[in-house]
Amino acid sequence: MSKLRVGILGATGMVGQRFISLLENHPWFEVTTLAASERSAGKTYEEAVGNRWKMKKPMPEAVKSMIVKNVNEVEAVAASVDFVFSAVDMTKDEIKAIEEAYAKAETPVVSNNSAHRWTPDVPMVIPEVNPDHFEVIASQRKRLGTKRGFIAVKPNCSIQSYTPALDALMEYGPKVVVATTYQAISGAGKNFADWPEMVDNVIPFIGGEEEKSEQEPLRIWGKVIDGEIVKAQSPLITTQCIRVPVTDGHTAAVFVSFEKKPEKEAIIKAWKEYKGLPQELDLPSAPKQFIKYFEEDNRPQVTLDRDYENGMGICLGRLREDTVYDYKFVGLSHNTVRGAAGGAVLSAELLKALGYIEAK
Ligand SMILES: NC(=O)c1ccc[n+]([C@@H]2O[C@H](COP(=O)([O-])OP(=O)(O)OC[C@H]3O[C@@H](n4cnc5c(N)ncnc54)[C@H](OP(=O)(O)O)[C@@H]3O)[C@@H](O)[C@H]2O)c1
Repeated sequence: MSKLRVGILGATGMVGQRFISLLENHPWFEVTTLAASERSAGKTYEEAVGNRWKMKKPMPEAVKSMIVKNVNEVEAVAASVDFVFSAVDMTKDEIKAIEEAYAKAETPVVSNNSAHRWTPDVPMVIPEVNPDHFEVIASQRKRLGTKRGFIAVKPNCSIQSYTPALDALMEYGPKVVVATTYQAISGAGKNFADWPEMVDNVIPFIGGEEEKSEQEPLRIWGKVIDGEIVKAQSPLITTQCIRVPVTDGHTAAVFVSFEKKPEKEAIIKAWKEYKGLPQELDLPSAPKQFIKYFEEDNRPQVTLDRDYENGMGICLGRLREDTVYDYKFVGLSHNTVRGAAGGAVLSAELLKALGYIEAK
């Protein structure tokens, strides 16, 4: 099987770098085109990134001498790839327009950006939870006038630490959810060298994050009606999102009440048995065991557990009954792997397996 040719929009940024690392030696996809702003265009990738390489693994040899293209030269980029991953940092309107331009150039876009998360016919998917939402691609293609081009997005990094955990318990009708997230600084594209104020500090505000954390799970649990995603009305979700001095890994402390309160053992069993299409299809980036439940009181811990299943799994622990809500627990997920580039790569694998992305 020849590999699909992939372009990365925003290749020089932190999420773009994560895409490059994750796609090194990918069995289905080969990075053939890198694009960024006009500041980087025309330089080799190594020159364009300069001292900004933030991954633990060194820059792959295969990309070092690639000449970076300009994201805004859509035809030139689209001509050399079968699909693109998008991780550009532009205004919301600019991102919406550029992603649509790629889709209209018959180049599917799997995006890490938030710009299209509420466009009614754009699927926002956690591959294990709501792959059925990909069916709106047919109406999106009709609107855009395309045969193969479309946009698919992944949800915000903050919701991954609790949304799959609650999805596994849907038969019990979660009705009220209170979640406080403790979010890593890489979620802002930063490390401690760029953001020294975060050393020994906690900042109780992340712009726009609480709205995303409360609303995006409802869209994930929504239904496709007449070619659009209509969001679910429940559970009621309230969140507080806090920045903490951690490099990678978002933790969530969650309280939940149900219509039908389950036994603790039933919850843990549902978590252990939870799986979806990525596991059934044995996709290359799918975690074998999506959710891991820890019995130890001091787990999950960021440094010990964020890389569980190569950063693609969700770690849960400390499930116990609560005095105000039915239960409380703690969740952890890797924000730049499952929560960003890794989630997008898994979505692209599923889109390929389902026939939505093919060679041009
Ligand atoms: N960091 C995370 O964990 C995370 C998680 C979820 C979502 N996101 C979202 O993902 C996107 C990328 O985040 P990031 O942290 O990787 O940002 P970043 O490190 O600042 O990188 C931004 C990328 O966009 C390019 N770019 C900037 N302005 C541009 C323009 N006018 N035209 C074309 N390209 C332009 C940059 O190219 P140059 O190098 O040439 O300037 C660079 O490749 C953002 O929208 C962010 O909100 C980030």
